[in-house]
Formats: sequence, C-alpha cells, structure tokens
Amino acid sequence: MNRSITKVRNGVSYRVSKKPTRQQIAVSDLTVGMHVVELDRPWEDSPFLFQGFLLEDEFDIQMVQDVCQWVYVEVIEEHWQAIDKPNAAPIKQVSRFVEKREMAQQLTQANRTYRSAKLQVKELFASAHLGQAMNFKAAQQTVKECVSRVIDNPNAMLWLTRLKHQDEYTAEHSVNVCLLAIALGQQVDLAPYELENLGMCGLMHDIGKMKVPSEILNKPGRLDPNEFAEMARHTTYAKQLLMGRSDIYPGAVDVAYNHHERLDGKGYPRGLDSSKLSLFTRIVTIVDAYDAMTSDRCYKRGMSSLDAMRILNKNRGTQFDDELVRKFITMIGMYPPGYLLEMSNGEVGIILSADKDFKLKPRVILVLDPNKQPQPERIINLAYDPMDDRGQAYTPIGVYRSGAFGVNVAEFINRGLRIQGNDAL
Ligand SMILES: [Fe+2]
Repeated sequence: MNRSITKVRNGVSYRVSKKPTRQQIAVSDLTVGMHVVELDRPWEDSPFLFQGFLLEDEFDIQMVQDVCQWVYVEVIEEHWQAIDKPNAAPIKQVSRFVEKREMAQQLTQANRTYRSAKLQVKELFASAHLGQAMNFKAAQQTVKECVSRVIDNPNAMLWLTRLKHQDEYTAEHSVNVCLLAIALGQQVDLAPYELENLGMCGLMHDIGKMKVPSEILNKPGRLDPNEFAEMARHTTYAKQLLMGRSDIYPGAVDVAYNHHERLDGKGYPRGLDSSKLSLFTRIVTIVDAYDAMTSDRCYKRGMSSLDAMRILNKNRGTQFDDELVRKFITMIGMYPPGYLLEMSNGEVGIILSADKDFKLKPRVILVLDPNKQPQPERIINLAYDPMDDRGQAYTPIGVYRSGAFGVNVAEFINRGLRIQGNDAL
C-alpha cells in the first residue's frame, strides 16, 4: 500500500501517492540530506549503528566515503494523479530524500531530559522525606524541557516511560505521570504554559508518599486495612507539603490532594463529586492509573498496555473522565512506542513510533531474526508495507513488554545511544 493524500494545485485536485524506493549511488555522488539505507558491505563491518541514517554534513559523507565504494540511498517517489481526470497520465513525479535517524537523535535528547527529571524528583522527594526545604526551581525548568520534548516528538518521550526499574518506582512513576499528562494535555489543545503547569502537577502528585512510613510505602505485598488508610493519607500529606507555597503552581495542591477521587464520588480522601474535579486532576488520575497498572512491583507483575487500557475503558464515566479516557486510548494506540512487536515471519522489533494517520502501521526497529537470534538493527515502516524474507508483507502478530524474547529495551537503548558517542549515559 502506498500512502495517498489529496492535494490541490492550480485549482485541480490530485491524489498524491508516495512510495519509498532505493537507488544505488557511488559514494562520490553523495550529498548532504541523502538517506543511506544500505552499504556495499555488511553493517556489522561498518562503524554505523543504524541501518538507515541521514548524511547531515560533509563529515558524514567523508565517513561513508572512507568505508564504502557505493551505497543505496532511499528516495520517495511522488505520483500525482488528477482525481477529476482518472485516465490522464500522472503529471508530475518528484523524488526527495527522507530522514530516518531523527528518532535515534531525539531519543538521546529525550533520555537526557528524562534522567534530569528523575534526579529533580529524587532530590525534591528526599527533602520532603527529611523535612528539609524544597527547591522547586530546577524541577520547574526540567518540566519546561519535558514540554518542549513532548511537543517536538511525543514518541521519544513515551518510549522512555516504558523503561521501568522496580527499585526506582517512585521517581520513575512521577516522571512518567508528568510526561503522560503533558502528552494527554496536548491532545486537549492546552497551551505550552498550561502543559508546564500540568507537568508540574504530574511530577508532584505523589510527593505526599514521602511522609508515609517507609515500611508501609515499600511493603512487598498487599497492605492491610490500617496500612492502606495510612497510605491513602499521602494525598493529605501532599496538601500539607505544597499548600501556601508561592514557588509552585497552586493547582499542584489540588491535583495532589484529589488524584484518588472518582467521578462517582467513591474516591478518597473526601469522596468529592465530579463537579469538583478539575481538568488537570482528571488527566493526572488517568495517566497515574495507567502507569501504575503497567509497572512491575516486587509483589506483582505489571499488566500489558492493552489490558490497562481495557480497565480504563471499563471505568469510563464512573472512575475516570469519559472523553479524556477516549483521547488517552487513541493517543497510546495499539502499538505503543517502546513495546516489542513480533512479526508473522518470527522477527521481533521494538516499536519506534506510529504516524497519527497510520496508528496501526508503526515504525519498528527489527532486532531479532526469524529464529529469534540477534540481527543487525534495521528500521522498517509498516505504513509502506515492506516485505519480509519470505516475500510477504510484514504483519504484526503480538505486542510484548520489554524482556520478552530476551530483548531488554533499556539495554538496547543504552547500548545504542552509547555507540553513537553519547556520553550522557
Ligand atoms: Fe497517588
């Protein structure tokens, strides 16, 4: 299937279909902006990490020229067919080079922002725990950065929310809630400054847990009723910690106090009815539940993204805001970035991203061959219906969490980013 869109030029409507193809080219003819998809030698014999990278400057070209005689570059052919005159020959065909390494670069930047946010949370939460002065300034700056990253490339940031470590649950959960809230806030067209406020609410929503005795907070198992009551007090503790402070968005108090309330009034601590629940509280409540359900804890394994979305869906209108849950499910999609995808030929890849209009056809970086053995990483875009080794279109047959088939997404991203010379890791 080609991607097809309608464009109007000089008053005439055209159906424009795009088809990626590859062209062999001598390395002496390379120019900046070309996208190299294949070398004249195996990738593992070259210094290049990804099968598919953009020539960004003369230095990149020089590197390829040092290693290869010729390469394949990818071009996109555009076929313009007049809609009103179906029999007319296509009047225009243009080719342009496409860029694919962008995702890897944005992941590097996203990872840096994520780590910095995690650090800020840890520091702030440690101060709250010890009763020391809390400084929100640095966290505010990091949240601002999170907002720009989510606006730039939500997929890269959402990737990172999948990389969970049990021992870092509280900090990672806070950052994940911050990021997911920003991403959902974007779906309801909040302005950047509102997203910053919302992100801060997400980051701080569980700060009250720092006042819960650690034997309850870290208990490896179900809480008894008394322990649960104490744990539920984290909402009230948060209010006490944040109330009246002039250096944090005042709405953060509301969200931290109310994020366990429900639309049907059966939540805690006050059993508020829906009219009292702000938009920010409703957003944080949904993403908080989703991230908690999909996280591994020492006493239970997290559920799949799909199962968590089913639960959100089931509780639409009673526990969670109906419209926001719909938007959240559409945003996360069937193929969430950072999850593993098994193909019908047995190959396994990591989901990179999915275009808004091609939610069921994500981009995937293939990492295991049909026999589940490591293979040189290769990016495919299912929107273009690429063929597998059997000459059949790649078809996804299952979505799995990191760790399935021995593929640890965190290890992969760390290794990948390090190979690219990123010293932030
Ligand atoms: Fe909470």
